[in-house]
Amino acid sequence: MQEILAKLESMRAGARLGGGEKRIASQHAKGKLTARERIELFLDEGSFEEFDMFVQHRCNDFGMEDQKVPGDGVVTGHGTVNGRLVFVFSQDFTVFGGSLSEAHAEKICKIMDQAMKVGAPVIGLNDSGGARIQEGVASLGGYAEVFQRNVNASGVIPQISLIMGPCAGGAVYSPAMTDFIFMVKDSSYMFVTGPDVVKTVTHEVVTAEELGGAVTHSSKSGVADMAFENDVEALLQLRRFIDFLPASNREKAPERPCADPIDRDDFSLDTLVPENPNKPYDMKELILKTVDEGDFFELQPDYAKNIIIGFGRMNGSTVGIVANQPMVLAGCLDIDSSKKAARFVRFCDAFEIPILTLVDVPGFMPGTSQEYNGIIKHGAKLLFAYAEATVPKITVITRKAYGGAYDVMSSKHLRGDINYAWPTAEIAVMGPKGAVEIIFRGDIGDSVKIEARTEEYRQKFANPFVAASRGYIDDVIMPHGTRRRVIKALSMLKNKQLQNPWRKHDNIPL
Ligand code: HXC
Repeated sequence: MQEILAKLESMRAGARLGGGEKRIASQHAKGKLTARERIELFLDEGSFEEFDMFVQHRCNDFGMEDQKVPGDGVVTGHGTVNGRLVFVFSQDFTVFGGSLSEAHAEKICKIMDQAMKVGAPVIGLNDSGGARIQEGVASLGGYAEVFQRNVNASGVIPQISLIMGPCAGGAVYSPAMTDFIFMVKDSSYMFVTGPDVVKTVTHEVVTAEELGGAVTHSSKSGVADMAFENDVEALLQLRRFIDFLPASNREKAPERPCADPIDRDDFSLDTLVPENPNKPYDMKELILKTVDEGDFFELQPDYAKNIIIGFGRMNGSTVGIVANQPMVLAGCLDIDSSKKAARFVRFCDAFEIPILTLVDVPGFMPGTSQEYNGIIKHGAKLLFAYAEATVPKITVITRKAYGGAYDVMSSKHLRGDINYAWPTAEIAVMGPKGAVEIIFRGDIGDSVKIEARTEEYRQKFANPFVAASRGYIDDVIMPHGTRRRVIKALSMLKNKQLQNPWRKHDNIPL
C-alpha cells in the first residue's frame, strides 16, 4: 500500500511538473503562466477536479517511447467560476509544445462529452504547436474528433477559446468553431500557415504578430472577440464574461441581484442626439446609461466599430445588445459589421438571451468594394439572423432608421416584440436630401424648389409618427425613460414562446 501511495504521489508530482523546471522557467520568461497556473487563476479557489492525470501518449516512434509525461500536455477537468460549473482544458506548452497527440485529444473529447451530458460550458486555454508531429495521422484524427464535438456542442453549451500561445495549422479550426475567441497580446498567434510558409508561397515578409497576433485578429480579421494585455487580465475577464452566459441551452442565463433602480431616469439622454442630424454622438453612452450599473461587456470593440455588440444586464438578467455607432462611418451597415452582429444575434438566440437593438443607421454602405465583396450576401446574414431569432427582441430607434437597414435592425416586420422610437427618430426610405434628388430630379438646379421639397420630405418622414401611425413603432418614448421602458418590456416578455417551422436546419447565406 505504502508503495502504491508513493508511486501515486510521484506520478502526480511528475504530471504537475509537466515538461520540467527549465521549460517552466522559459514559459515564465515569455510572460506566460503555465497550464496549471492558468487553471488556478481562472477557477474558484480549490474547485478544480482533474481528470486523466495519468494518461500518456502511445507513440513509439522517433524516440517517443522514452519521453512520456503523465497528462500528455493537457490539463483537463471541471471546476466552478463564481460557483457555476465549467469544464476546462489547458494545454501545457512545456510538454512537446502543447502539441496534440491522440491521447491529448481524447482527454479534451472526454470533458466535452461530459459537459454536453450535464450542460455546462467548455473553456479551452490554448497554447499549442498544433498536431504532434511524431504521431502523424493519429494526431490529425484526434483533431477531427475535437472538431466534430465542437460542432455537436454548438448552440447547446457555450464554448469559449482563450488563445494563450501559438495556435497554428489546423489547430485554429477548433477555436474557430467555438462561440468566442479571446487572445493575449504579444504571446498568442493564430494562423493557418506561419510566416515561413507565407514567405515561400506569396513572398510576403511578415512577423507572426502581424500575421496572426491578438491585435491583428481583434482589429483586422475579426477572428478574435477580445485582445487582453496578459494572461492574468485575460483569465480574470473570462471569469467576468462567463457570468453573463447560461450554462447551456436548457437553462436561462443567471440572474443577479440588481442594485441599480429599475425606474432610474437619466435626463442627460434627452440631449444625447444632436440637433444637427449629420452630427455624430457616442451610442456607447446610451448603452452604459441604460444597463445595470453601467456594466457592459463589449465584444470586438476594435473591429467593425460602426456596430457595437456585447452583454449587459437589465434588472439583473443578461441581455445581448446590438447598436449602430454613429461615430464610425455614420453607423452604416457594411460587410464586417453585418457579419459581426449576425453571429452575435445567433448566439443570443441559441442561448435564449433577449436582444436589445439600438438603432441609428443611415443605410447600407455603398461602393464597389462593398458590392464586389458581397455586401448582398453578408448584409443578408444580419437580416436572416434577426428574422429567425425567436428570443425577446426589443428595439429602440434613437435617430435614423433608413431603407433596408430599417428593416434589418430588428424591425416590427421581423417579429420585433417591442419597437420604441425616441422623438428624434427619422424612419424613411432614405435621408431627405437623397430622396428629393431622386424623386424631384427635374427640379435639380432650382435650389429654392429643392430646399422646399427637402423640407417637405423632412416634415413627412424625419419623425417617428408615420411609422407609429402604422403600428410599426409601439410607442414614442422619452430618452430619459429608456431603461425603465426596456425593463418593463423585458419583464412582459419573460415567458415569450415562439417557434420557427420545423426543418432540418435553415440555410443562412454563408
Ligand atoms: C511536437 C512540438 C511541436 C509539434 C513544438 N514542439 N511544436 N513537438 N509536435 N507540433 C516542441 C518542440 O520540439 C520543442 O521541444 C518544444 O515543443 C517547444 O518548441 P520551440 O520550437 O522550442 O518553441 P518556440 O520557439 O516558442 O516555437 C513554438 C512554435 C514552433 C511556433 C509552436 O515550435 C513550431 O513552429 N512548431 C511546429 C508548428 C507546426 O507546424 N505544427 C503542425 C501544424 S499542422 P523541446 O523538447 O525542444 O522543448 C497541424 C495539422 C492539424 O496542426 C490539422 C488538423 C486539421
